Amino acid sequence: MKPIIRVNSLKKRFGATTVLENVDVDFPEGLITAVVGQSGTGKSVLFKSIIGLLKPDAGQVWYRDKEITGADPDELLEIRRHIGYSFQNAALFDSMNVQENLEFPLREAMRIKDHAELRRRVAEILEWIDLPGIENKTPSELSGGMRKRVGVARSLMTRPDVLLFDEPTTGLDPVLAETINNLVIRVNKELGVTCVIITHDIPAAFRISDKIAFLDKGIIIAEGTPKEVAASGHPLVRDFIRTSFNELEV
Ligand SMILES: Nc1ncnc2c1ncn2[C@@H]1O[C@H](COP(=O)(O)OP(=O)(O)OP(=O)(O)O)[C@@H](O)[C@H]1O
Ligand SMILES: [Mg+2]
Repeated sequence: MKPIIRVNSLKKRFGATTVLENVDVDFPEGLITAVVGQSGTGKSVLFKSIIGLLKPDAGQVWYRDKEITGADPDELLEIRRHIGYSFQNAALFDSMNVQENLEFPLREAMRIKDHAELRRRVAEILEWIDLPGIENKTPSELSGGMRKRVGVARSLMTRPDVLLFDEPTTGLDPVLAETINNLVIRVNKELGVTCVIITHDIPAAFRISDKIAFLDKGIIIAEGTPKEVAASGHPLVRDFIRTSFNELEV
């Protein structure tokens, strides 16, 4: 499968601390890839470097045949329209209702101003996430799981080709986590969006993704299909997988 995003020898440090030592990884078009690894190992920094929020010290990131790392601000804006991003702890704007939250990317990134068009697009996406009619609710009136789904919807408003989710299920109860995992699968299968998720939920990563990339201390120590990664001889990968699946059995 052709990669839609390619990361090539990416390096990023903050002061004396090297976070991304040397990352080579690609995300195949049309598939779900999970990026896993211990806390503090650079997963979020990798995502932020991919979308150009952080400037890497060396290496390149490519979206199709366009180099994100070398893009000027106008080019970056254009590329970013194709890449949706859901931050870790993504929060909706508390002072805005659901309609205004979902309109925001359409107004900002796509310059859509027509009220009827904005209402139509918001109603359509709310229908799609099975939360029709909540346009006038504020985030504080929604449950945590509803807020998460609206957050995912917001990252879909610009109809991106790729969606990067940073820990969409962390902090949710297992049933809600499953709802979000299923939503990721629907985004991928029904909308044809390439999905990349950072997750601590290893069993879910194995279940829903086509590819897994294992990051540790700023390098990819294992990658491939879930089967290939499960067969990895790397001790940390083996430990991580064994612990995650053992927890399931108790
Ligand atoms: N803007 C920043 N300035 C300085 N250091 C940073 C910055 N962003 C991240 N770091 C550091 O980079 C390291 C990796 O952080 P990152 O958020 O990528 O970890 P992570 O793998 O996403 O962890 P978690 O699973 O807990 O979310 C951490 O040591 C963090 O303190
Ligand atoms: Mg993180």
